[in-house]
Amino acid sequence: MTAATGTFPEIPFFDLRVEEEDLEAVAETLRSGWLTMGPRTEKFEAMFAEYVGARHAVAVSSCTAALHLAYLCAGVGEGDEVIVPAFTFAATAAAVIYCGGTPVFADIPGKHDLGIDPEDVERKITDRTKAVCAVHFAGYPAPVETLRELCDRHGIALIEDAAHGPGATLGGRAIGTFGLASCFSFFSNKVLSVGEGGMLVTDDDEVAARSRRLRSYGMTSGTWARHSQATNTYDVTELGYNYKLDEPRSAMLMSRLGRLDREIERRRELIMIYRRSLSEMDGLTVPYCDEDVATASGYVMPILLDDPEFQREFRTRLRERHGVQTSVFYPATHEFTAYRELYRDVSLPNTELAARTEVTIPLFAHLTDEEQKRVIEGIRDSLR
Ligand SMILES: Cc1ncc(COP(=O)(O)O)c(C=O)c1O
Repeated sequence: MTAATGTFPEIPFFDLRVEEEDLEAVAETLRSGWLTMGPRTEKFEAMFAEYVGARHAVAVSSCTAALHLAYLCAGVGEGDEVIVPAFTFAATAAAVIYCGGTPVFADIPGKHDLGIDPEDVERKITDRTKAVCAVHFAGYPAPVETLRELCDRHGIALIEDAAHGPGATLGGRAIGTFGLASCFSFFSNKVLSVGEGGMLVTDDDEVAARSRRLRSYGMTSGTWARHSQATNTYDVTELGYNYKLDEPRSAMLMSRLGRLDREIERRRELIMIYRRSLSEMDGLTVPYCDEDVATASGYVMPILLDDPEFQREFRTRLRERHGVQTSVFYPATHEFTAYRELYRDVSLPNTELAARTEVTIPLFAHLTDEEQKRVIEGIRDSLR
């Protein structure tokens, strides 16, 4: 069963396939009668912590919620600055504002590397900087070792926005294990997806304990703990939120986690075929072309057009002539209506160019060889 049935484009840029084992896991959960966060969520947290090799994994309702909690745990509050990329999904910066802080945007290195540029980060550190957030763009590891060293030197926290990244590694170590806290997304189009969901991962016992309280109204015990009679009272020790992940989604995520490495392997195969075919074409650049694909999660396949005026037309040709859906990862955050006025003096040349030239082409584990050939030929034709 896939989302592409019906009115969707012939070849979507992502597609979520729900297998029988996922349906069975969810059905079994529904039959159990316990639907809010409980034993399955706890089990999924343990499995995910083991998968990335971290001490703690705290399941939450979205990666945005995880980012909010991570920034709070890094001490971000009124008047504080957090350095983030603008070439990312809007949530990376928005969660800073939830805490009363100000996002300060750093540029990307250029068209071969769309992650955050450590040199620009360093230039933007002030005495108000509380944290730096690195996005592992498209599932390629950001330079988190360099950033960690930089953050340690300035006494500020490194947060990883690992929304794109389960399965990605740096120096043999899973991304998501370098920062004070790291945030994963299980949104529909992610490599490990369930619709809506997220995970905060940390090695820090206090960050883990505080995140657990904050995701559940600031309470000292949860509904499941009271139901299972581990405790029968609770206190509210600080202002918290309702950021819990429920049982059906935890069950589906556990089922999907079992297939994740296999699916990532197929994504990597497809990336290598794309790299070989597309890097020979005039008019575009394939970012990360020289990066070892074995360290990437294979979340999305970005290409950059040479001509910044051609993005819309190229996408229209691919859709109308070839039935191929594309997306843009990403419009620059500081150029959105909600940010534009406040950031009118900010110039991020590499980000701005990438936002005007990037096109995200279809990539998902069950994309067939035949479909991929159609995408490649469609691109060749649409460039003309
Ligand atoms: C880089 C990045 N950060 C954060 C998010 C927010 O994740 P969620 O939708 O789980 O809140 C996303 C995508 O959705 C993302 O791509």
